[in-house]
Amino acid sequence: MAAITTTLLAYCRPGDAILHSQPLYGGTETLIARTLQPFGIAAIGFADGIDEAAIRQAAEAALAKGRVSIVLIETPSNPLNTLVDMDLVRRVADDIGTRQGHRPVVVCDNTLLGPVFQKPLQHGTDIVVYSLTKYVGGHSDLIAGAALGSQEHMRSVKLLRGAIGTQLDPHSAWMIARSLETLSLRMTAACRNAEIIAQFLAEHPRVAKVYFSALLPKDDPVRRVFEQQCGAAGATFSFDVKGGEREAFQFLNALEIFKLAVSLGGTESLICHPATTVHSGVPKATRERIGISDATIRLSIGIENADDLVADLTQALAAIGG
Ligand SMILES: Cc1ncc(COP(=O)(O)O)c(C=O)c1O
Repeated sequence: MAAITTTLLAYCRPGDAILHSQPLYGGTETLIARTLQPFGIAAIGFADGIDEAAIRQAAEAALAKGRVSIVLIETPSNPLNTLVDMDLVRRVADDIGTRQGHRPVVVCDNTLLGPVFQKPLQHGTDIVVYSLTKYVGGHSDLIAGAALGSQEHMRSVKLLRGAIGTQLDPHSAWMIARSLETLSLRMTAACRNAEIIAQFLAEHPRVAKVYFSALLPKDDPVRRVFEQQCGAAGATFSFDVKGGEREAFQFLNALEIFKLAVSLGGTESLICHPATTVHSGVPKATRERIGISDATIRLSIGIENADDLVADLTQALAAIGG
């Protein structure tokens, strides 16, 4: 959050507007709505990241509020893995720049796919931000963030970082250097496991729906965006059990290998119930509108033996209704 906050504050001024994709990570959403808004920085979100008309409509609304200085996207989103078309967002940012005489900075939160499976700078993003706490750290033992971009784009971020003290401490920096040695190996193994598990869940009679981009039908327009900008579907995704909260809880309580925890991106597999944990602050009506129901379960697949993970899911799904 320090990396995201420093980046936004480096480019936003009172009277400006942020145009952003939705949903965003809850902490980012709260930062924009509760911290930046009282400083006179408005925010307008767009929910469908591949619908050009919807993004342009949100851009008009943002322009009506003030100078649009940042376009912030998070793709894939958490927990339903909806995608934002980066090339489209860059074109919209260029057009806003022509209109208002000031090109907004395009910022992408690339926490979910990490630098191994998505390279936003190659798709017109100016600054990429990360929660390094997740895949890059990878061992659930540090809290860190990063902002990356051209020297020109990073200059004001670095200046503000020094001014407000959001540098990373030396010990965490050393831990990150250690983690980078295995980043590609860990992410590749986790993604391979995730593909096996997503396919297993998609075929299971007690599962209603799996939100995993690699399973999108060939003719789905989101699939074109997935193939254009993602190297893999990642290892954090969600699925709906058949039923509701009762069935979801029966399943979760029966698991033995998956740990019930809300973080993601570590070597160990984690699982959570978004409606009562990470998204409990979101009103039920809003949750249901964006597709997070009481039956939705989020997984962060680790690097364990895939057969063990499938066996654990199999016995826990069998416990539903018992
Ligand atoms: C997509 C995304 N961005 C940012 C953050 C914030 O990360 P941190 O807790 O490392 O500040 C998170 C945390 O869950 C996240 O999922």
